[in-house]
Amino acid sequence: MKKNSILMIIAAVLAVGFVFIASDFAGSRSSAQKAPQTTPDVITLAKDAKIGQVAFDHKKHNGGTYTIDQSGAIACIACHHTARPAADIAKFPPLKTAWPADRTTTLTAELYAKDPAGAGANACRDCHARTGEKPKLLDAIPEVKHEGSAAVITLNNQQAFHRTCAGCHTEVKKTVPTTKGPTTNQCTMCHKKAA
Ligand code: HEC
Ligand code: HEC
Ligand code: HEC
Ligand code: HEC
Repeated sequence: MKKNSILMIIAAVLAVGFVFIASDFAGSRSSAQKAPQTTPDVITLAKDAKIGQVAFDHKKHNGGTYTIDQSGAIACIACHHTARPAADIAKFPPLKTAWPADRTTTLTAELYAKDPAGAGANACRDCHARTGEKPKLLDAIPEVKHEGSAAVITLNNQQAFHRTCAGCHTEVKKTVPTTKGPTTNQCTMCHKKAA
């Protein structure tokens, strides 16, 4: 059985010891010489969804508050899967695309703090556009085919986010049954209609 590639990435990340100590951006701010560069804390996603928008706590997801197995912060590349060298990505098929294609760096909090413009932390929607829309960075919405299956999946925004978000929460639930991470069918734990 083929494991979810995101978890394979996470496993590899753990294996090479790439997990960095939970680093609070506020901490690195004081020592920075230039204007502070921080990643967004809470991002409003699914603004176009009839079922309601999603408040995604980016900071808790990558600052170390949330962990997959209590061992350390979630790596940036667990979600930003194109933000590392193509040779590394090739180890986790069906993933293969690096962005930019010739990049030599891997996205981390440190890299982003040092070189926000060059770190290549692109928004998912720049590639995983809504059905019918052309993505900003690619000619077309990405498609993927999993080994052992003939199905070609078109990774529009809904597919890309649901697979990443609910996919990880499902894995977390296996080891931490009390986790609050919403799984696939818990729609309204993510999507909230404006009051
Ligand atoms: C883990 C959180 C989560 C859960 C659970 C979840 N969603 Fe989503 N959903 C999202 C996110 C994030 C997006 C991405 C939207 C974007 O492009 O910003 C999304 C996108 C969508 C879209 C596409 C919106 C558009 O752009 O037109 C639909 C429709 C949708 N979800 C319906 C559902 C339904 C129905 C369920 C339950 C069966 C569900 N979602 C469960 C987080 C979630
Ligand atoms: C759990 C998943 C997840 C993790 C882990 C994560 N991010 Fe994100 N990040 C997102 C999502 C989702 C967005 C919003 C994308 C969108 O709007 O399409 C985002 C957006 C961003 C943006 C804004 C991009 C833009 O152009 O709007 C930056 C910068 C960023 N992340 C950097 C980082 C860095 C640096 C790390 C590691 C320290 C990290 N992220 C870890 C999911 C994650
Ligand atoms: C530069 C373009 C680009 C960006 C940015 C990007 N993706 Fe992707 N994504 C792709 C492509 C292309 C594929 C198809 C596989 C490949 O070529 O690596 C893919 C595949 C996927 C898959 C399928 C993985 C599988 O094993 O089936 C998921 C889920 C996904 N992306 C989620 C995300 C999320 C969430 C973000 C933002 C945090 C994101 N992507 C950012 C281009 C992108
Ligand atoms: C790599 C793993 C991972 C990914 C990917 C991930 N999450 Fe989570 N998420 C967690 C964990 C772990 C928790 C559990 C927090 C707890 O129970 O203490 C959580 C909790 C949550 C919660 C409940 C608590 C809160 O912050 O409101 C929501 C909502 C949520 N995640 C939304 C999302 C969305 C939306 C995405 C995709 C953009 C996403 N998550 C992607 C690991 C992940």
